[in-house]
Amino acid sequence: MKTFGRRGLLKRTAAPTAPLLLARRSQADTEAKIEVLVDEGIGTISPDIYGHFTEHIGGVVYDGVWVGEDSAVPNYGGIRKELVDHMKRLKPSVVRWPGGCFADSYNWRDGIGPRGKRPKRANFWMYSDFLRTADAEKQLYEPNHFGTHEFIHFCRLIGAEPYLAANVRSQSPQDFNEWVDYCNAPAGKTSLAETREANGSRDPFNVRFWGVGNESWGCGGGFSPREYAAEFIRFISWVPSFGERLSLIPAGPNGGIPGGSLDWTREFFERLVERDPGMLNRVYGWALHYYCGTAGEAIDFSESDWYTLLTQADGMEDLLLNHWAIMGEYDKHHRVKFVVDEWGAWHRPGSEVDPTHLFGQTSTMRDGLIAGLTLDIFNRHADKVAMANVAQLINNLHSLFLAHEDQFIATPNFHVFEMYSAHYNGESVRTVFDAPEIQTDPDDKQRKLWGLAGSASVHGKELVLTVVNPSVDEARETEIVVHGATILSGSARTLAEDDIHAHNSFEEPEAVTPTDSLLEVRKGKLAHVFPPASVARLRLDLA
Ligand code: AHR
Repeated sequence: MKTFGRRGLLKRTAAPTAPLLLARRSQADTEAKIEVLVDEGIGTISPDIYGHFTEHIGGVVYDGVWVGEDSAVPNYGGIRKELVDHMKRLKPSVVRWPGGCFADSYNWRDGIGPRGKRPKRANFWMYSDFLRTADAEKQLYEPNHFGTHEFIHFCRLIGAEPYLAANVRSQSPQDFNEWVDYCNAPAGKTSLAETREANGSRDPFNVRFWGVGNESWGCGGGFSPREYAAEFIRFISWVPSFGERLSLIPAGPNGGIPGGSLDWTREFFERLVERDPGMLNRVYGWALHYYCGTAGEAIDFSESDWYTLLTQADGMEDLLLNHWAIMGEYDKHHRVKFVVDEWGAWHRPGSEVDPTHLFGQTSTMRDGLIAGLTLDIFNRHADKVAMANVAQLINNLHSLFLAHEDQFIATPNFHVFEMYSAHYNGESVRTVFDAPEIQTDPDDKQRKLWGLAGSASVHGKELVLTVVNPSVDEARETEIVVHGATILSGSARTLAEDDIHAHNSFEEPEAVTPTDSLLEVRKGKLAHVFPPASVARLRLDLA
C-alpha cells in the first residue's frame, strides 16, 4: 500500500467564522487533538438534517420501497418489510417524494383511487439509454401503483413526515392548491377531502413540507432565476393551508456548477425581495443540491481517487458558506435556512444490483466516509441547515439500502446514519480538530486534506462526538479534551475495514458493520485511536 507523506498541522473548527482556539499537544504520545467546547453552542441539530429522498426513478420505488400487497416479498400493505424495519432503527423524521426531476412531470391525480384503475404513463426517465437496454416495464411506464396514499402509509410506518414536491414545469398553481386540499382539508369539508375519504383516508394527511418544483433551472422547467422567482410567488400566493403551517421550499441551485449556481441564489432572492421583503417569511428553506460526483468507479478506485472524492464531498462546506453569504445580502436576519434536499456521490453505472436500477450504485467504505463527513458538516452548521435529504434511499445514488426482489442489504451509508442518529436534537457545539494533514497526491504538494474532522453535540450530561479519519493507512492516536465538563466514561462505535473498497453485497450482507467498544477514561483524560479510513461515534458521559 502506498504511503502518502504527512505535512504540517491543520486546525479545523466547527465554526469557520469564529476565532481559532490555539491548540497545543499536551500529551507527548498523541499526534492529534480534538477539543470540544460544550459552552459554545451553534444550534440544535434537527433530525430533519438526516432526511431521505425517494423518487420514481429506476429501482427506488418499484423493486425498492414498493413490492405490492400480493408480493411473495414480505411487506406491510405493499411496502417492503425489511426496509421499514431497518428505517425504524434510524427514527427518520422526513422523506421527500416523488422527485427529483420526476416531480415536474407528475400528476398527483394519477396516483389515487383503486390501483387497478390508475392510468399508466411514460415515466420521466424513460428516455435514459440505461433503461432502454433493460427489461424495465415499471421503470419505463409508470403504473402509478405507488401514489399519495401509499407514500403516506410508508411515512407512517417508519414514523417520518412527508415532504411532497409539487410540479411547476407542467402543472398549474391550481393543481398544487388541489393537492394541498386533497392532503390537508378536514374530513368532509371539501369535495377533495371526500374523495380522499372514498380512497381510504378520512383523516387529513397534514402535509407540512411542500417543495415548489425541483431543479427549476434544468429538468424543472429551464427557468431563469427571475422567471422561477415569479413562478414561485404565483404558486405560493393564497395557497390554502387548512390550518397547517405550510413549510414552502423553493428550488435552489445546483452546487455542482461552480459560479453559475451562485447567480441562481442571488437573482432569486433579489427578485423575491424586490417584489416584497415580507416574502422571505413565506420561504421555509432554500433547496440546495450537491452531488460530489465520482473518481474512479463505484467499487474500483485508487487511493488517489479515494482522496479526490472525499475532497470533492468536503466542498459542501464552502458551498453552504458561499450561498449563505449571498442569502444574507437579501435576508439580513437569515430567516431562510438551507434544505439540502439532494446530496451524495454519483458514480458511473456498473455496480447496480439490477439492470433496471437507473443510477443504482454499490456504496463502499468511501461512500460511508462521505456520508459521515457530510453529516458532520450539516451538524457544524446546525444554525444554517434546516433539512437535508440524501439521494436516494434505496437502489440509487448514495443509497442506504440495495434490494432486488426478495434480496435486501444495508450499505455502509446506513450504518453511518444509524451511528449519527445519536446527534438528533442535541445542541451542536464548537470543536477544534488538530491533526496532521494528509498530502493526497504524491506529485502535487498543494493537494491536501484535513487529518481528522467531525462534529459534537450535547444532550444533557451526554456528549456525542463523531469523527472521520480519511487516511487510507494511518491510525490517529488522539487526545480528546472537553472544555467546560469532565469526561467520566464513554463508549465508541466504529465503522472501519482493512480494505477501503469494502462493501456489502447480497452474497456478503455483513461484510461492513460497525463494532462497539468501551473507552478507557483516566482521571478525566481520554486518548482514542481512530483507525485508518474510518467513521467513529463516541458517546461520552460528562460530569
Ligand atoms: O437524484 C437523481 C436526480 O438528480 C434527480 O431527479 C434530480 O433532481 C437530480 O438532477
